[in-house]
Amino acid sequence: RTGLITLDPGFVNTGSCKSDITFMNGEKGILRYRGIPIEELAEHSSFRETAFLLIRGILPTQKQINRFSVLLNDHSLVHEDMRDFYGNFPRASHPMGILSSMVSALRSFYPYLEDVEEEIDITVTRLLSKVRTMAAMSYKMSRGHRVVYPRPDLSYCANFLNMMFDSPVKPYEIDEEIVRALDVFWILHADHEQNCSTSAVRIVGSAMVNLYSTISAGIAALWGPLHGGANQAVIGMLSEILKEGTTVKQIVERAKDKNNPFRMFGFGHRVYKTYDPRAKIMKKMCDIVLSRLKLSDPLLDIAKELEEVALKDDYFIEHNLYPNVDFYSGIVLRAIGIPTKMFTVMFAIGRLPGWIAQWKESIDDPSSKISRPRQIYIGPRQTKYVPIEERE
Ligand code: SDX
Repeated sequence: RTGLITLDPGFVNTGSCKSDITFMNGEKGILRYRGIPIEELAEHSSFRETAFLLIRGILPTQKQINRFSVLLNDHSLVHEDMRDFYGNFPRASHPMGILSSMVSALRSFYPYLEDVEEEIDITVTRLLSKVRTMAAMSYKMSRGHRVVYPRPDLSYCANFLNMMFDSPVKPYEIDEEIVRALDVFWILHADHEQNCSTSAVRIVGSAMVNLYSTISAGIAALWGPLHGGANQAVIGMLSEILKEGTTVKQIVERAKDKNNPFRMFGFGHRVYKTYDPRAKIMKKMCDIVLSRLKLSDPLLDIAKELEEVALKDDYFIEHNLYPNVDFYSGIVLRAIGIPTKMFTVMFAIGRLPGWIAQWKESIDDPSSKISRPRQIYIGPRQTKYVPIEERE
C-alpha cells in the first residue's frame, strides 16, 4: 500500500511509500539500483550512466548516453550573474550552506514549467551539471582563486576535478584512475531509498515546489552530522586520535557511554544491521587510490584499527553497529585532494540523481498527495486563558 503510516509517540510520522528505484536489505547488506547490485554498478558503470539509470529507470543505449552527455555539457555553465553571489558569502561560509542557497537561486534564473515533460528533462540535466560546477566554484572562490570553467572534452568526473584543481600556475593533470575512483564514489552515494534527505525532498516536492528549491531542501537535510555530515565528522574523530593521542579504545568506550552524547561517526545505520555494502567497496578504494598516488594516510590505519576493535566489542555487536558509507569515504576524498569542508558537498553531488529520481516518482504517482504527517497529541486537555496579572 502507498502511504502506509505508522504513528510514533514522538509526533513523527515514519510514513513509508511504494518505490521501484532502490532496494535495500539491511539484514543481508544488499543494495540495488533498479534491481542492479551496487557491486556490479561500481565495477562496470559510470556515475553519468548510473544517474540515467536511476532517473529514467533503464540503462541507456549508446545513443541515449551520448545525448545525455551533450546535454550535461550544454548545461554545465553557471549564469555569470550568479558568480556575484559567491562574493557576498563570508569566506568562511560552509560550502553546504552556499550550495543549498545557490541551487534554490537557480529558480530565479531559469524558467520552470513543471507540467512540461521536456522542461523537466532539461531542468534535471541542468541541475546535475550545474551543481558540480557550483561546488567547484565555491571552492575556488573560498580561496580567492580564479574560477575554472567546465570543458567539453572532459568527462563528468574529470571536469569536476579539473574545475577544482586546475590553476594557471599548476595545470591539473587528469589521472584516469583517480577519475574512476570519483566515479565509483558518486555511484555508491547515488541513492539510498527513503533516507532523511530523500524524505525531505519527497515532502517538499509533494507541495509542488519547483525542483530547484526541492533539491535545496535535500541539501540542507544532508548537511546534518547524523546524516551526510558524518563523513566530515569521521575525519575529525580519526584526526583526534592521531593528533591528541586519544586511543582507539577510548573512542570506543566514549561511544558506549550513555552519559556522553558522542556517537562513533561512520558507524551504525537505521537500516543496515550488518556491514554497509558501500563501506566494503569504499574500504577497498582507499587502498587503490592511496597506492595509485603513492601516498599513505595514517588515518586509514587508524580507521582499520578502530573498525577491528569496535567489531569485537560486545556493545557494538549487540547493537549491530558496523561501518557505514561514511567511515572510509573521507579517506578516499582526502587522497584525491578534496578539502574536508567539501566532503558533504561531494555526498550531495552523488545523491542528486537519487533525489531527482525519488522526486519524479513521487510527483508522477497519480495517487500522491501533499505530505501531511499526523501526530499523537500528548499535551494538556482544554485549559483556560489566564490574564497576565494573574500569572506567577
Ligand atoms: C548516512 O538513512 C540512510 O540511508 C543514510 C545514509 C544514506 O546513504 O542516505 O546511509 C547516509 O546518513 C549514514 C549514517 C551516517 N551517520 C553516522 O555515521 C553518525 C553515527 N551514527 C549514528 O548516529 C546512528 O547509527 C545513526 C543515526 C546512523 C542511526 O541511528 P538510529 O538507527 O536512529 O539508531 P539509534 O539512534 O536508535 O541507536 C540504536 C542504539 C542506541 O543505543 P541504545 O539507546 O538502544 O542503548 O545504538 C546506539 C544508540 O546509542 N548507536 C550508537 C551509534 N549508532 C547507534 N552508539 C554509538 N555510536 C554509534 N555510531
